[in-house]
Amino acid sequence: MASDTPLTLLGGLTPAEFLRDYWQRQPLLIRGAFPDFENPLDPDELAGLACEEGVEARLVEEDGPDGPWQVSHGPFDEAVFGELPERNWTLLVQAVDHYVPEVAALLDHFDFLPRWRLDDIMISYAPPGGSVGPHVDQYDVFLLQGSGRRHWQLGGKVADDAPILSGIDLRILERFEVEPGDDWVLEPGDMLYLPPGWAHHGVSQTDDCMTYSVGFRAPSADEAITSYADYLGEQLPSSLRYGDAGMAPPADPAELDDAALERMRRIILATLDDPAQLAQWFGRVMTQPKYVDQLVPSEAPTDVDELVTLLQEGEELTRSPGSRFAWRALSESRATLFADGDGIECSRLLARAMASNTPLDAELLEFDGAAELLATLLDAGSLIWYEEEE
Ligand code: SIN
Ligand code: CO
Repeated sequence: MASDTPLTLLGGLTPAEFLRDYWQRQPLLIRGAFPDFENPLDPDELAGLACEEGVEARLVEEDGPDGPWQVSHGPFDEAVFGELPERNWTLLVQAVDHYVPEVAALLDHFDFLPRWRLDDIMISYAPPGGSVGPHVDQYDVFLLQGSGRRHWQLGGKVADDAPILSGIDLRILERFEVEPGDDWVLEPGDMLYLPPGWAHHGVSQTDDCMTYSVGFRAPSADEAITSYADYLGEQLPSSLRYGDAGMAPPADPAELDDAALERMRRIILATLDDPAQLAQWFGRVMTQPKYVDQLVPSEAPTDVDELVTLLQEGEELTRSPGSRFAWRALSESRATLFADGDGIECSRLLARAMASNTPLDAELLEFDGAAELLATLLDAGSLIWYEEEE
């Protein structure tokens, strides 16, 4: 995607302008981001998903039977929806892009951002008055109005330790003051971009209000340090440890002196500061599937010759819904393909093709090592055989 082409999706800004002025910095309201938006699923279909095993869904009832702002988790019994009041509740279903191809297709519009930053598309449905309360999210989000109308108000950037209501399972801000002008009603196809840490409150105004949250992932320093240390730790020899050869006699044998700390610090920094290892870890982390259990590994290893024959007969593979791919160059001709939290070395051209939207058909076999790589990914559950919908 050209970074200097103005996009309707960004209200006429080019991707370069959006990234420079808004991304991670300030909100942007985009009227008509998706002109003539056709809502790919209706509230009943969303409720149906929320009843399925393995689908992450929440129901937020502002005036719940057991108290204010009651949160319950799916899978739900269908009967639950018949018993809800006419107002003031919200159903939220996570990762709908994993289940509904038309919803997954929306993600292609966000190709002006690194794909591995995308997390999922959550969809909410709410009758009039429904909201999840004023709150802050720690991630970037594009809030696309799918159907009906939602009244959005923003309360500016808030501190990490802003007080939240106690005694409930939701993180609702104790104080929420609308910034002048940051108050809009969104119609279908309108979209609001919010950077992390921005207070927001969206209340349904209609009985068909559906909001699509295109959310992004960014590991916290806390998660990153623990996870990187674990990754490195698995590979370090047990002989690499604190050493103090040649030290001076201690002034006090009970003192942990500066020289001792410096020796430990050097081992830690030299181990951590390894760009090649960092790349291998980062690619794995950013392609971790949201729900590991959704990928179904093959029962028996794929026979590579059979796979080649099937492809040559015109069969196609497809990336599993929810699978995540990325690549990083190792040299001019080689790369690591990251797929669902794993890293596989292969030719750079093959890695690029695999991590793009290219069809996975016989043409891929022209790349060196493609058949073996496809078999490995099929066995891991990252790829599946494509079946035409009936
Ligand atoms: C909603 O769709 O109701 C909430 C989305 C959000 O505020 O993050
Ligand atoms: Co939010």
